[in-house]
Amino acid sequence: MKSQLLTYVLCLTFFGMLSQSPIIIPGTIESTNVNLTLQNSTFQFFSGEDTSTMGVNGPVLGPTLIVNNGDNMNINITNNLGEDTTIHWHGMHVPAASDGGPHTVIGAGQTWNPQFQVKDKASTYWYHPHLLNQTDEHVSKGVSGFIIVRDTEEAALNLPRTYGVDDFPLAVQTKSFDNSYQIQANVNDDDVLMVNATINGQLDVPAQVVRLRLLNGSSQRTFNFGLTANRTFQLIGTDGGLLNAPVTLTRLPLSPGARAEVLVDFTTLQGQSIHLMSYASELPDANYGATYPGNSPNKPLDGYNPNALNGADFNILQMDVVAQTASPITTIPTTLSNDVPLAEVTADETRPFTFEPLTPGLQQLNGDFSINNTTMDMNVINETVPLNNTEIWTFQNNSAIAHPFHIHDVQFYILDINGNPPPPYLQGRKDTFLVPSGGTARFITKFEDYFDETIPYMYHCHMLKHEDAPAGMMGQFLVVDQTAGLEDLELPKDAILYPNPSKGTYMTVRLQKPSETINAYSIINQLGQIVQNQKIHKNKKNNTLTFPIFQLAQGHYFIKVFTQDRIITKKFTKNH
Ligand code: C2O
Ligand code: CU
Ligand code: CU
Repeated sequence: MKSQLLTYVLCLTFFGMLSQSPIIIPGTIESTNVNLTLQNSTFQFFSGEDTSTMGVNGPVLGPTLIVNNGDNMNINITNNLGEDTTIHWHGMHVPAASDGGPHTVIGAGQTWNPQFQVKDKASTYWYHPHLLNQTDEHVSKGVSGFIIVRDTEEAALNLPRTYGVDDFPLAVQTKSFDNSYQIQANVNDDDVLMVNATINGQLDVPAQVVRLRLLNGSSQRTFNFGLTANRTFQLIGTDGGLLNAPVTLTRLPLSPGARAEVLVDFTTLQGQSIHLMSYASELPDANYGATYPGNSPNKPLDGYNPNALNGADFNILQMDVVAQTASPITTIPTTLSNDVPLAEVTADETRPFTFEPLTPGLQQLNGDFSINNTTMDMNVINETVPLNNTEIWTFQNNSAIAHPFHIHDVQFYILDINGNPPPPYLQGRKDTFLVPSGGTARFITKFEDYFDETIPYMYHCHMLKHEDAPAGMMGQFLVVDQTAGLEDLELPKDAILYPNPSKGTYMTVRLQKPSETINAYSIINQLGQIVQNQKIHKNKKNNTLTFPIFQLAQGHYFIKVFTQDRIITKKFTKNH
């Protein structure tokens, strides 16, 4: 689609030469009982050309779910795609069993019925498939939708919130089409830009304060949002909630998976056209979407160039300012929320993550990439997090491209990027953020409410090509309640703990199966307090753990041993 796209971009330099299409505004479901049907269909992204798609209750995209904090959701998702998929509630804090990660497959013809309470703050979330190795294919072909969460705090503010009138969801995506207008996944020539599945989109906006809910739903591309004529706008919310006060911006970089809510004041602009742009020429190298996707022009990325969108300033949406609505919002509140970020000193634990290319060298941008030297394996739990832990996750990106890191279950606060405090637009509640190439970053978060000893949550790069196979840049973590069910269980026949009781300095747990790997253990005292919590990085014998007890005061303790598929709890005694 290269030549066609080039013409399209050239035309856009003379605004109005190319016909604009009003963007689709997805329908809404405003109920706690939601029925979604995933279906194959066709859709004309290009007029007269049928493209095969996957959609939700329609040919492409899905309805916007409008829900309230506290709602008890009962969702039925019927999969008529003829193949497996999953549906994940990106950014929402839900039990692992309802999270829709790769473990929760909805088979062809089946219906999945997740039920959960909405515990999130008012913000913009989204749902999309998350099948192992096929996330990009299912998302690119069209399955995704918005979730708007409302709460009493947000409802009390004088903000635009009439859906489709002064409050617009904008799913901004680039896709790659082959010569027969079919969508290609897991490629780097995504040169067709669309907003809500509409190419060359146009939107009538009333001459008042308007809210745009921006979602970067692209597989890989980062956008650098701005308005023509360098007009300012107000950022009011990040991924997981309102900022405490609006931030005035002229540019807003947004990585794949991330959302932002902005207010634009069109009050005095009736009759004018304002364009939402991406000023990608200003993106630093080593970002997908910049002129060079790597931190050196010599690093090639297959299919990346030529692509008229890379390193260029391009139009995303033409907004034509029309008459005011009745009772318009014409002012912007000066305060929005009262959210207190977690303090660094409250952290119980720090967990390091390092990103590396699997094949270093000039071709390294083509991946695959590892996290802590491993790639996605459904059978390995990479991290075990105690319920109610406050944790700092640290990142070292030893690859030549920036990666948008995303974690399920929680929202986090960025502590620093390359040692500096985050810019204002990254200071709110986030679930996805870019870890710069060759750089470092840290965030703090708390793992509350939900635990599950078997179903993990995921963390991964939200560049879907990186997340997918062959070697997915993704890992899984369990949140476990280490104080629940503490009893002196009989050890399974294939496990031994010795010497017990002991006056010595070490004890050993041995499992009979050499293939069973001990990933972590915790020692818990009789008050249920964790006195030691250790991840096993390298172990000579995977099935054997020798752990120190010399530091323990005399008394009774429990040890919890975490393997790839079970948790063994046993009481032991330290004597003096
Ligand atoms: Cu938006 Cu794990 O996904
Ligand atoms: Cu997610
Ligand atoms: Cu990545």
